[in-house]
Amino acid sequence: MFNLFKKKKEDNHIGDKYLSLKVREVIKETDDTVSIYFEQPEPFLEYKPGQYLTVILDIHGKEERRSYSLCTSPYLDPHPGITVKRVDKGLVSNYLNNQIRAGKSIEIMKPMGNFTCNFHSKNKKHFVMLAGGSGITPVISILKSVLINEPNSKVTLIYCNRSEDQIIFKKALEQLEEKYENRLMVIHNLSKPSSNWTGLKGRLDAAKLKNTLESIRYPELDQTMYFVCGPEGLMETAVATLEGMGIDSKSIIKESFYTDLDAKEEALKTAGKLAPELSREIDVVLEGETFHFEVPAGKTILEAGLDHDVDMPYSCQSGLCTACRGKLISGKVDMIEDAGLSASEIEQGYILCCSSKPASSDVKIIIE
Ligand code: FES
Repeated sequence: MFNLFKKKKEDNHIGDKYLSLKVREVIKETDDTVSIYFEQPEPFLEYKPGQYLTVILDIHGKEERRSYSLCTSPYLDPHPGITVKRVDKGLVSNYLNNQIRAGKSIEIMKPMGNFTCNFHSKNKKHFVMLAGGSGITPVISILKSVLINEPNSKVTLIYCNRSEDQIIFKKALEQLEEKYENRLMVIHNLSKPSSNWTGLKGRLDAAKLKNTLESIRYPELDQTMYFVCGPEGLMETAVATLEGMGIDSKSIIKESFYTDLDAKEEALKTAGKLAPELSREIDVVLEGETFHFEVPAGKTILEAGLDHDVDMPYSCQSGLCTACRGKLISGKVDMIEDAGLSASEIEQGYILCCSSKPASSDVKIIIE
């Protein structure tokens, strides 16, 4: 049976990172996607457009965590919401699509994520947003926030799906385009559209993307920023095309939902870039308390911590979401995936415990 977390279990989580939210409304977006809106807690949930929250569920007696992007804008929408696309055989996404109803409470970790930006009413920017499938979720949150906060900025959204019925937020996007007719342009690209589709069709390859981008230019605006979120193939094409067009990587903000940690680890191992796998003792400082435990050979710091009942925060367990972020105070670690961290976070010594293994004997990490 599926059960939501019991209060006793919730109380086991340390600190103010956790919260219980009551579901206000569930809206079916497409056949395989729902948006779940929550009642505002007291005080209101603080988040930035484009961030995600982590849901924590007890399914078959096992704690399951997944992160889902917020589809709402804190500047506009009275109730925060997440959008969940059903993954084939995905335990949590299917549960959320099938079982969640208004009135239920869900334990969450408070919003996190770097796929966001700051807004200012004086900005004159062009936001080019590339989304695929459920990658639209954080993108629409940012898009709505730009339109309401920056009257002199413009937004172009290139949104890829397989077919018309897969387009999430289709109506909401049409309404926004109508409301902000000179400031928002939505370009749909469908890989398998119906025969009467008149928009872009087929795979969005580099040549098509380049042509599309070159056809939309606003020389009167001061700066162009690019936001990319979607399946791995689209992300790779988009980033390679943008960089190939000479766009500075600092202007390209990415959000990944997928990585293959095992393959990455294997590649690093083959390249001789990993320390020998040994059991090592480490210190983790969590909310001011120090935990000393052994990380057996082959385990990540997060896996070992959880095995020792240390209540370390986590969500994706793939090096993408940063929920498990800590600061390395001493020693060395091998970090297999750092996609969730910014270059400056890495420079400052931040690591992701879910994708890191100790590589020296004096590892000490502080998790704030
Ligand atoms: S749990 Fe998501 S980055 Fe580690």
